[in-house]
Amino acid sequence: MQLWKGRFKKELSKTTNDFNSSISFDSRMFREDIEGSIAHATMLGKCGIITEDEAEHIRQGLRGILADLESGALAIDMEAEDIHTFIEGELTQRIGNDGKRLHTSRSRNDQVALDIKLYLKKEVVNVRKQLRELVSVIAKKAEEYSDTVMPGYTHLQRAQPITFGHHLLAYAEMLLRDISRLDDCLRRMDEMPLGSCALAGTTYPIDRNITRELLGFDRVTNNSLDGVSDRDYCIEFASCLSIIMVHLSRFSEEIIMWCSWEFKFIELDDAFSTGSSIMPQKKNPDIAELVRGKSGRVFGDTMTLLTVMKGIALAYNKDMQEDKEAIFDAVDTVKMCLTAFTPMLDTMRVIPRNMRKAAAGGFINATDVADWLTKNGVPFRDAYKATGELVARCIELGCDLESLPIEEYKKVCDVFTEDVYKAISLEYCVSQRTAFGGPAPGNVRAQAERVKKIVKFE
Ligand code: ARG
Repeated sequence: MQLWKGRFKKELSKTTNDFNSSISFDSRMFREDIEGSIAHATMLGKCGIITEDEAEHIRQGLRGILADLESGALAIDMEAEDIHTFIEGELTQRIGNDGKRLHTSRSRNDQVALDIKLYLKKEVVNVRKQLRELVSVIAKKAEEYSDTVMPGYTHLQRAQPITFGHHLLAYAEMLLRDISRLDDCLRRMDEMPLGSCALAGTTYPIDRNITRELLGFDRVTNNSLDGVSDRDYCIEFASCLSIIMVHLSRFSEEIIMWCSWEFKFIELDDAFSTGSSIMPQKKNPDIAELVRGKSGRVFGDTMTLLTVMKGIALAYNKDMQEDKEAIFDAVDTVKMCLTAFTPMLDTMRVIPRNMRKAAAGGFINATDVADWLTKNGVPFRDAYKATGELVARCIELGCDLESLPIEEYKKVCDVFTEDVYKAISLEYCVSQRTAFGGPAPGNVRAQAERVKKIVKFE
């Protein structure tokens, strides 16, 4: 039954009702809707807009509905228009006339804006918590593999030696930025829209500060039109979630590569891998692939929200009902991805031997040869050129820089001495990269410690 029946003579057709209804996706906000209504009734009572007895009657009715929804004693009517009308209708059925007073000085427009904010505020905190868990797993692993030498890449070509701990901590940095972005998003979202009513505020002597305080918001919205037509908080949250997915997707891509026989830097635990229905030898990194794939959904959700909002005149338009499926899907997807990703990472087996082997090919210590010459007085550009010639010579001879005879070095530049060999051992190369932000084992341990402190669970 629609609450706005008065003006209409005919029943809504079934197809129109189905098309118009949002109950299938907004019913998940039933707690927030009831919480908002309890606060609203309390404020109406305190301001003398309804009596304190009426307010108490409404509160009791709403608490009963909440308890029955939680226990399953009351089922949500999927024919209802939305969660707001369902709960108000149920209240009136239960407590009679006083139930009809609840919507005084309120519109579904400010009610729905409130409900989404209440719901999303909790979800920001949930995602934030999951990110902290992931970052602490990364920091733990980084510490464990602080001196594990691996090749660092640019253009997916072996570039310079780094440590696996250092590589992992790069992701910790990305995810820490994600956490701080969520904090910003939450701060901006923390404005209570209730009291904006349909669009033009109200003539009743309401006190928005009472509801604000009861519902735990930092501030009230300053403009009633903006209060009901703003969905920036959905777009911003979806954008934060999209960036999180970019990071998880890049990480997944590396995990997928590292699992391949071409790399074999890691092996995922059986519990987080799948097999093939035809190829008995296969062990596939499905979780990482799904996370990489699901990033598309979240980007799509963000695009949906941007597109829904971009062309609608102030204030509320029904287009805005499309906000919920998009933002809920984005939140659900990211939470699901993190739930699968973190234990997958935590249980992976690292194979340092293969990382070391990969680091030994590809002349990744060439920069260190040039640096050795530079430290012995040769200008860097000349040193660079000489080292290039040495690499070419190695390729001709089929050896690497470590095994190239000293005579060959001297032929290219007579500054070379036997000392160069020590300077280009991979362990030494890595241990010397101590400039702040670099991959030396000591740096990695210090950074892991720092990261751990930031995400520490009290
Ligand atoms: N179900 C609606 C939504 O999700 C609630 C607001 C309805 N307001 C209105 N004026 N029809 O946006």
